[in-house]
Amino acid sequence: MEVIVRPDADSAAALAARLIAARLRAKPGLVLGLATGRTMERLYATLGSIQLDFSGCSTFNLDEYIGVPAEDAHSYRSYMNRHLFSRVNINLAQTHVLDGMAPDLGLEAARFEARIREAGGIDLQVLGIGEAGHIGFNEPLSALMSRTREKALTPATRQQNAAMFGGDPVKVPARALTMGVGTILEAREILLLATGSAKAGVLAKAVEGPITAMISASALQLHPRCKVIVDEAAASALTQRAYYDWVFHNEPEWADYR
Ligand code: F6R
Repeated sequence: MEVIVRPDADSAAALAARLIAARLRAKPGLVLGLATGRTMERLYATLGSIQLDFSGCSTFNLDEYIGVPAEDAHSYRSYMNRHLFSRVNINLAQTHVLDGMAPDLGLEAARFEARIREAGGIDLQVLGIGEAGHIGFNEPLSALMSRTREKALTPATRQQNAAMFGGDPVKVPARALTMGVGTILEAREILLLATGSAKAGVLAKAVEGPITAMISASALQLHPRCKVIVDEAAASALTQRAYYDWVFHNEPEWADYR
C-alpha cells in the first residue's frame, strides 16, 4: 500500500484523476470499478473536464440501494449518470450498476459477479471510505472474503448519507446490494480516495491498524497494488507520514505525478 498526501481535497482528486487518466490512455478498454458519494464528486468533475476517451471503457459500480428505482434521483445509477456518465463519451451499455429493484436480489448479485468475470475482471477499482470504515457497503463484520450480496446498513452509514435524503437518516434505505470485500480485492489495482477530517480517525485505523472485519477498508492492506490518496485533513491521524511523503517524492513510479 502507498499513501499519498495532497494539500487539499481538490489536489487529492486531481491526482486521482491523473492516475485514472493514465490507466485509461494505456488501456482504452479499461475495466473500471467506481464508487459514489460526496468524495467522488470532485473526482468525476475533474475526469469530465479533461480530454479522455471513455468509449472503450466499461464500468462496474460498487453498490446500489435496495428498493430505489434506477430512474429515482437518489439511486446510484442516477448519481453516476449525473456526475460522470453524462460528462464523458462512455457507452452507457458498458456501465454496470446493480439493480436494487431486482425481484431476486441473490440472482442479481450473482449475475453482476458473472458480468465482472466476463469483462475479464476489474483493472482499477476506485474506492471511498465510510466514517465507520466501510468500502462499498461492507459494514462492520463483513467477511473479508465476501462476494456481492445484500447488506443491512448501519445507523452510522444512514446518518452519513442522510444529506442526500433531505437530512433524514430514516429516509436512507436500510439495505443495499454491494460488491463484497473479496470481490473488491480481486481488482488488479485499487485506488482509495479520502478527504476531510471526518475520515482521519478511521483512515488511520484502516491503513496503520490491524486487519479486521470491523473495518473492511483494513483488508486493503492485503492488496499488492493499492494506492491511498488523501488530503491533509484526512491524513491528520497517520503516524508514518514522513515515510509516505519520502516515497512519493523519491520513488520513480511517482515521477510524473509530483
Ligand atoms: C459508495 C460507497 C461508499 C462511499 C463511502 C464514502 O458507492 O461505496 O463506500 O465511498 O461511504 O462516502 P462519502 O464520499 O460520501 O463520504
